[in-house]
Amino acid sequence: MEKYKKPIGVFDSGVGGISVLKELVKQMPYEDYIYFGDSEHAPYGTKNLEEVKELTVNNVRFLLENGAKSIVVACNTATSAAVAMLRKMYTDIPLVGIEPAIKPAVLNKNGSRIIVMATPMTLRQEKFQKLMHKYENMADIVPLPCPGLMEFVERGVLNGRELDKYLTELFWSVNHKKIDSIVLGCTHYPFVRAAVQKAVGSDVAIFDGGEGTAREMKRRLVEAKLLNKSSEKGKTRFINSRNTEDELKLCEYLLNI
Ligand code: DGL
Repeated sequence: MEKYKKPIGVFDSGVGGISVLKELVKQMPYEDYIYFGDSEHAPYGTKNLEEVKELTVNNVRFLLENGAKSIVVACNTATSAAVAMLRKMYTDIPLVGIEPAIKPAVLNKNGSRIIVMATPMTLRQEKFQKLMHKYENMADIVPLPCPGLMEFVERGVLNGRELDKYLTELFWSVNHKKIDSIVLGCTHYPFVRAAVQKAVGSDVAIFDGGEGTAREMKRRLVEAKLLNKSSEKGKTRFINSRNTEDELKLCEYLLNI
């Protein structure tokens, strides 16, 4: 098979990366996708660095063995822990990671107060610290670790009282001053965007990195002449390390809402 016809490989610690997959499909509908969710080992965000590096490398290897022509690391945690290493290991394929969308939030309103919701691991890494320092003169950037939030999405819980209670308590520590924007720095969180909006109020702008990541993958595929020339809508194959019927149903559901 010609290389350009092969699927784009996408992975996350679970179902969260489907928020990025949605953007990829929107921008490149004629591509085929293979999505790997490592729900069996989720969450990554509360593990140690070495564990996340090893799981991330295994995921990339798995996708390449399954014929992926390029890789999207649709997980902020895996990107912050391992993307530099992956770029050294795989120099001949388009490989794109995701990072918290601080730049668009800063550009949206100068001098604003921005809350960055992400996993404890993402916020601890040097990659995030550098990103934050780059913009700290233009905005008040407040990191907000959200351990436990991705688990709601993994269970398919996208709204309801339990989630509202979690979010109310989460924002307790940052709600004393006006919030201008929220950055969803974990790919699971766009699925609870409505609940987050309800918790912080309708005048708060919410950003995520999915669109920018998809745009960058498209640019890299064009550059490498690997964009699929088909004019038929592509297919998505889901594989999950907890390969149950329910898990795969949740993947299909999240892709289509
Ligand atoms: N979806 C992942 C991210 O973007 C992380 C969730 C986790 O495994 O803790 O960071």
